[in-house]
Parts: sequence; C-alpha cells; structure tokens
Amino acid sequence: MPNDVPAARLPALLAAMPKAELHIHIEGSLEPELIFQLAQRNGVALPYASVDELRKAYAFTNLQSFLDIYYAGASVLLQEQDFYDMAWAYLLRAQADNVLRAELFFDPQTHTARGVPMETVIQGLHRACTDARIQLGVDAELILCFLRHLSEAEAFATLEQALPWRDLFIGVGLDSSELGHPPEKFARVFAKCRQLGLHLVAHAGEEGPPAYVWAALDVLKVERIDHGVQSVHDPALMQRLVRDRIPLTVCPLSNLKLCVFPKLADHNLRQLLDAGVVATVNSDDPAYFGGYLNENFLQTFAATGMDARHAYRLAANSFEGSFAQADAKQRYRDRLDAVFAAHG
Ligand code: ADE
Ligand code: ZN
Repeated sequence: MPNDVPAARLPALLAAMPKAELHIHIEGSLEPELIFQLAQRNGVALPYASVDELRKAYAFTNLQSFLDIYYAGASVLLQEQDFYDMAWAYLLRAQADNVLRAELFFDPQTHTARGVPMETVIQGLHRACTDARIQLGVDAELILCFLRHLSEAEAFATLEQALPWRDLFIGVGLDSSELGHPPEKFARVFAKCRQLGLHLVAHAGEEGPPAYVWAALDVLKVERIDHGVQSVHDPALMQRLVRDRIPLTVCPLSNLKLCVFPKLADHNLRQLLDAGVVATVNSDDPAYFGGYLNENFLQTFAATGMDARHAYRLAANSFEGSFAQADAKQRYRDRLDAVFAAHG
C-alpha cells in the first residue's frame, strides 16, 4: 500500500502514523518521578534515596531481575487517585505518540496482596480510560492479568473479586515470571474466562520455549500472544501463527533491556513480519525500558533497516490485532491510510 518514502522522512512518518498499543503494563508506565511523588503522598518508605538512585537500579539481566524492581515500584499505589494519575500520565504519552487505541494490562494481585481493594484499582484505571476517550481521543480499555508465579487458585480468587466490575475490563492475560510457569497451569481459570466472554491473551515465548506458545494457543485458547519472539525457533509454530493470523505483541526495547536479544539490530521483528506473522510493536513497561511506543518504532527501524512498508504493516496489524469493534477498526485503518497518503 505505501508509496516509497525517502529514508530521511521515515522517522517523521513512524511518529505521525496512527497506531494501537496492545501490550503495555500500566504499572510499567510508572516513572520514577511519579513513584517518589506517590510515595510522599501516601507516606510509603522507598529503599532508594532519590529518583536518580532508583533509575540507576534499572540495569536488568533477565525478566526476573526486572520484575523484582517493578513490583517494588508498584508498592506506592494505594488510593484510587494514584491509579488514575498513573494511567492518565500514560494516556497523555500515548496520545502524543498518535496512539488511537490502547489496551492496558493491569496486575490486580500486586495491589490486593497489599490490602488495596480491587474496586480501588479498577475504578481508578477505568476513570482514566473514560477521560482519555472523551478528552484525548484515545480509545482505552483494560485487560486484567493473572500473575503466573502465583497459583491457579489465587487466579480464580482474583477473577471472583473482579467480577462485580466485569463490564470494566475486556479480557484477561497472563504475565510475570514465565520460566517454570507454563500456560497449562492456568487451563481451568482461562476456560472459565472464556465462558464469561472475556478476551484471552497470554505472555509466551518471551524467555520461554515455543512449547509455551503452543500451549497458550491450544490449551488456554488465547487470541493473541504477548511477545512470542521465541516462535522463530519452531517452523511449524510459525506456520500456525501465519495461517491463523495470531497477533504477536512484540516489545523491542523490553527485549533489549531484558537481554532477550544482545542488540536491537539482532531483533527478529523484521523476520517475523517478512514471514507473514501479524506482529505489532509495543512498549511493555516504558518507564523501565527507555521508551514509549514511538521510541520503540524509531529505535527498532533505525537498527534493523525496516522501511515504510514494514511501518504500514505494523500499524495495520496493531488495529487488526486489537479487540476493537469492526467499525472502529475501519476508522483507524482509514486514518492510517490518510497519513500514508499525505506522506507519499
Ligand atoms: N510484567 C510486566 N512486564 C512483563 C514482562 N515483560 N513479562 C512478563 N511479565 C511482565
Ligand atoms: Zn509484558
């Protein structure tokens, strides 16, 4: 579809093109400045003396080394307004990156375990999503994630606690420590969520093997795979992803910071796209990984030499892979085409 775009104009096009973000943990958008502000507001003691000291701790070697700091950062969230402020700050950034739709993961167990009521979490996030739709033109929705290092019984209890607010989230996901916690562990709770008509996604193939991606698809019956970059090691799995148009929500800067790839130039996003996989670009935990959505696009394109056709494909995939209604998807796609026509 896109006309040839000179390389010099590609960064402006990447920034301007309308897009959807399908893989953002809202707790991972908590910037160190806001962590300190909320800690002060709520009287929470932090094990870091300053914003700079906290930022210096953001040197990760793998997923677990990040998760330990990420859960500590979330400990400052106590009141509904805290959840609102966190989500609103992200949604402002999303609007600036020309995000038309954002599907926000949240980790309720991180908060309920500290005594924060489920209602506080969901209502604060939901209010920010509602305001974003009206004030920012960003269609924001929530996806509740179960922590896979906890038990399936705890996931069931979390679902039960969230059901009074069933209309305020569109789906469920599975996140946290992947290795040693295969998707099968959550087969029954995902079956229940499916019965409830919730959309289903799961992290798989971030650090874990292709077998975890197969299990997410065949046992959990998810509609999208979060990350999924290890799928390239299994040709039959690649065929399956392409044939069934299973979206992968790829997070390049996250993969770089968590040492999934040694350099951005080694990232396999281009390989996935060129193989026909419905891959998308996402920020995962932008406050921790050095960039929001456009930064992910800009750095990845600079490192891998992808072109305007890849950019168009990625944006179109993000709308196709979203859980928006068909008429909204068409509107997003029309806006994408208009921007590409103007840049042609
Ligand atoms: N929670 C927040 N970010 C995550 C990631 N990249 N993988 C698994 N769980 C997460
Ligand atoms: Zn993630």
